Amino acid sequence: MTEATDPTTWGAQVAQELRGPGTDRGPDGPERRDPASTVAFANQKGGVGKTTTVISLGAALVELGERVLLVDMDPQGSLGVGLGIEPHSREVTVYNLLMQDGSTFEEAVVGTAIEGLDLLPANIDLAAAELLLVQETAREQALQRVLREARYRYDRILVDCPPSLGLLTINGLTAADGVIVPLECEYFALRGMSLLMQTLERVRARLNPDLELQGIVATMVDTRTLHAREVLERVREAFGDLLYTTTINRTIRFAEAPVAGEPILTYSSESRGAGAYRELAREIRGRETVST
Ligand SMILES: Nc1ncnc2c1ncn2[C@@H]1O[C@H](COP(=O)(O)OP(=O)(O)OP(=O)(O)O)[C@@H](O)[C@H]1O
Ligand SMILES: [Mg+2]
Repeated sequence: MTEATDPTTWGAQVAQELRGPGTDRGPDGPERRDPASTVAFANQKGGVGKTTTVISLGAALVELGERVLLVDMDPQGSLGVGLGIEPHSREVTVYNLLMQDGSTFEEAVVGTAIEGLDLLPANIDLAAAELLLVQETAREQALQRVLREARYRYDRILVDCPPSLGLLTINGLTAADGVIVPLECEYFALRGMSLLMQTLERVRARLNPDLELQGIVATMVDTRTLHAREVLERVREAFGDLLYTTTINRTIRFAEAPVAGEPILTYSSESRGAGAYRELAREIRGRETVST
């Protein structure tokens, strides 16, 4: 039987035509879709809620039907730990892919307990990449290359950057379409923001002209205090609509969830914290509908 008359391939062709452009099931590959929107979560200040936001927002986007890949660019490996995956026992991680040692994406990627949520883990090996990559020519584009194919398997890729503006964060920003800045709502919140903004400018000028500052999310907000409301007001004055309306309250539940190895959305599904990240997911998607 020739390929043209083989009912199985013919059926697949018709199905492809009906699906239209944007999806294309390659002969041996998984279904192809429009490339995922890639978002880097960056703030060189430590402990502001980057990792918590990546995990919780990722889980919330999956609840809304998206296929999501979380990428750890932090040698601390907290993203895996927060999802109950022990990153230090993993043989192949994002490090191997960045260093092009012959490992494949399939060997590195791990499914999580939540269907539709995958993780590209990192561990302490990644600390070496920061030094080794310096000698490479396309050192800032290494993550972009790693995700080039993977982008067609997901609706969204969330990249968790380390608390620095070094090469690993620059890789995250170069691979991304947009950046979201988690900002801890405390007195010195705005300190360091101008350095972060300059870094975004530099990345735009040299590496990724389309990088968009997608938004700023206020984390660890204690709305009971006047102080927190004042800080929010100052952030609003400085950044206007870039500050998401949804804010994330300070609550102990966020410290408990990573110990349990699951996102707050499943660990404490009815909590205010879980609700806040669901609302943030809807706000982010709502803004996309308006702007496209
Ligand atoms: N809204 C919140 N309320 C209370 N605790 C929180 C909140 N968000 C995060 N935390 C806790 O604060 C700590 C730091 O959070 P997280 O690890 O997400 O920050 P980070 O910016 O990724 O840190 P790093 O810069 O070290 O990567 C964690 O123990 C986390 O559980
Ligand atoms: Mg972190």
